[in-house]
Amino acid sequence: MSAEDRESLVVDNIGTLLTMDPEAGEGPLGIIRGAAVHLDGGDIAWCGRSGDLPDSVRRAPGIDVIDVDGRVVTPGLIDCHTHLVFGGSREGEFAQRVAGATYQEIAAAGGGIVSTMRATRAASFEELVELGASRLATMLRFGVTTCEVKSGYGLSVEAELKMLRVIRALDGRQPVALVPTFLGAHALPPEFRRDREGYLGMVIREMIPAVVSEGLADFCDVFCEEGVFSVEESRRVLEAAKSAGLGIKVHADQLTPFGGARLAAELGAVSADHLEHAGDEALAALAAAGTVAVLLPGATFFLNQDFPNVRRFRDAGVSLAVSTDFNPGSSPGINLPLAGTMAAVRMGLPIEGVFAGMTVQAARAVGRQARVGTLSPGMAADLAVFDVADHRTILYRFGVNHCSMVIKDGRIVVP
Ligand code: NIG
Ligand code: FE
Repeated sequence: MSAEDRESLVVDNIGTLLTMDPEAGEGPLGIIRGAAVHLDGGDIAWCGRSGDLPDSVRRAPGIDVIDVDGRVVTPGLIDCHTHLVFGGSREGEFAQRVAGATYQEIAAAGGGIVSTMRATRAASFEELVELGASRLATMLRFGVTTCEVKSGYGLSVEAELKMLRVIRALDGRQPVALVPTFLGAHALPPEFRRDREGYLGMVIREMIPAVVSEGLADFCDVFCEEGVFSVEESRRVLEAAKSAGLGIKVHADQLTPFGGARLAAELGAVSADHLEHAGDEALAALAAAGTVAVLLPGATFFLNQDFPNVRRFRDAGVSLAVSTDFNPGSSPGINLPLAGTMAAVRMGLPIEGVFAGMTVQAARAVGRQARVGTLSPGMAADLAVFDVADHRTILYRFGVNHCSMVIKDGRIVVP
């Protein structure tokens, strides 16, 4: 690409820039006040104080200069744990839970993940792409530019591959970059009710090799939980995935203290997610392994569970990310900053921790920290502009969308 063809853009007059690089600015968020960012060819070329941007850049032929009028700019947000591709909807189960039924009771009666499996199997490839695209358009408007998406509602070779191919198609046809995760061990499908071994064998010997040979996933995840997959079953799936070259994630200790976090640490998982019931030893193991703990307060809230206090995580030295867990059962909320507000209020995560959890730590939780989550030269030109004067307002005035502009790979994609 010649210099003239490259998208070159200066975002100027930024009131508060969260670089997320403590070397680049004040405090843990690396804040620069009165900042500018120069984006070139999809990368960040420069960021710093507006007055330090060479005039030759601002006046270069073909460069666009956008004045954001003192607004707040962050790295494009990263939603590092979602189940965004699915058919159907579960309002009926929501009403049942409000009336007193538990998530596990509904699942045991044939609802839950299996009801979404039926709807997802029944949906065509194109239907799933359309549904996914419309959800991603909403995410993008909240400032999300990278999103992890799991399979796990197919639960057959063909339907799991369909879901992952939908994720791949979506990655190419809208601005949000997707990180695909294979979650074949999300539930036991009804046709294998009396043959757990048969299903696990299929995940290990058919699904994982097919997923890897088509290059359809970066990670393999398992729902390690009482009544779902045991620690030993989870270990078998994750070890097979690891030997096949996939990274590892675990839905761990969500509903009971089951041992998933310890397993994640032992296998060197990139992240252990949920962790409402993780004990202190498990947290210490995660810290030692460098595994990121992903907090999913939307699910904790929607399942009406007790919120864990992040003090224990912080004391153990675990890195924390925050995500929506967007899915039709335990967390139908798609608003990532709202999850951030819940993590702050109900889990005691400091504001700085919430911003790190939606950017630099979320990037680590999906293995993309070399490219996204931080604003510094050479990183992706992914930015979110918020129509507020103080970054804390994004979390404080909760529930509404403060994002007014999104730049992905150096191009303005919102509005
Ligand atoms: O992350 N915990 C397991 N999986 C999802 C819920 C999926 C569903 O209920 O459809 C979760 O909470
Ligand atoms: Fe989940």
